[in-house]
Amino acid sequence: MRILVLGGTIFVGRHIVEAALARGDEVTLFNRGLHGAQLFREVEQLRGDRDGDLSALAGRSWDAVVDTSGYFPRAVRASARELADRVDHYTFISSGSVYADFSRPGIDESAPTLELAPDAPEELSSPEAYGGFKALSERAVEEALPSRALKVRAGVIVGPHDPTNRFTYWVTRIAEGGEVLAPEPRGQPVQVVDARDLADWVLRMADERRGGVFNAAGQGTTLEAFLTGIQDATGSDADLTWVDERFLADAGVEPFQELPFWLAPNVDPAWAYFLALDASQAVRAGLTFRPLAETVGDTLAWALESGPAGPKDVGVAMAPAGMSPERERGLLDVWRRRAA
Ligand SMILES: NC(=O)c1ccc[n+]([C@@H]2O[C@H](COP(=O)([O-])OP(=O)(O)OC[C@H]3O[C@@H](n4cnc5c(N)ncnc54)[C@H](OP(=O)(O)O)[C@@H]3O)[C@@H](O)[C@H]2O)c1
Repeated sequence: MRILVLGGTIFVGRHIVEAALARGDEVTLFNRGLHGAQLFREVEQLRGDRDGDLSALAGRSWDAVVDTSGYFPRAVRASARELADRVDHYTFISSGSVYADFSRPGIDESAPTLELAPDAPEELSSPEAYGGFKALSERAVEEALPSRALKVRAGVIVGPHDPTNRFTYWVTRIAEGGEVLAPEPRGQPVQVVDARDLADWVLRMADERRGGVFNAAGQGTTLEAFLTGIQDATGSDADLTWVDERFLADAGVEPFQELPFWLAPNVDPAWAYFLALDASQAVRAGLTFRPLAETVGDTLAWALESGPAGPKDVGVAMAPAGMSPERERGLLDVWRRRAA
């Protein structure tokens, strides 16, 4: 397949490019050359900025395009319109964050999505802005390529090269061993999808020219099974100390960011089922999941090789997730004194 990737050099797109090359696809990258310009030297690289300069795409055609770098409908609409007559199929990597209500379990593709005001400023200033703009971007792609657009509402994506440090925090922290702060409630739903499983599935869907909207999220598990699964996979002697949810919230611990995957569901029920999307439709369409242990092993190997996470610019300026050792120690000390 001749495939164009809008992006392709940080994480999800990078795995899509690697998977496509491994299958023997002919790949073209379109990006600004600001991130990972040393990657994929053997591949055609088109330089441009999807926010205003798509000239490098002019006159070209591909079988399929995969758009991993679209955050705002204006830019996504521009690339979808530009390519509509010159590709068979357009995959837009959207997000599970499009949904309006995470207070209930089992969110499937028919659940209502966020609605942003038409004049909302183009800023990713909140999770709602991110999700709302992704929802509008999905619509822009569908309008330009009716029934030839695949909208992938990805859940939290993990694996090597993940710039967010969410999964990597737990893998490296647990691998390090010692007493580890684990947040209650341990029964909170969690799901992750390995970027490589997502990449393989996206390419197969493009092969089949499948359109539609799919929740591409991982198999459901609990926070406890997730953290002990990481412990088993790393062979760590870590000792998980489960700390009360309310105590953590009162101490100002930021859910999801400071303790990744923790949603404080009883403190803020609005996010309780953020990690419990119904991905059964994607599974029926062929999405598969490798064992957690494999993702853990590969992520740990990559993290040890690439060193500590720093601030990242991945389209959105983001501080790496996770808690400093001092903060963790301090919280555990106070928690123990209270419990004594
Ligand atoms: N991480 C998660 O858990 C998660 C969950 C759900 C959905 N998602 C979605 O998954 C995608 C993640 O993508 P990724 O960052 O890993 O993809 P990626 O394709 O590996 O990296 C982003 C690419 O976009 C390029 N780019 C950024 N701004 C550009 C611009 N203005 N014009 C042209 N190229 C531009 C970057 O290169 P240059 O900077 O050199 O241009 C880079 O190649 C996002 O759409 C995100 O919303 C992520």
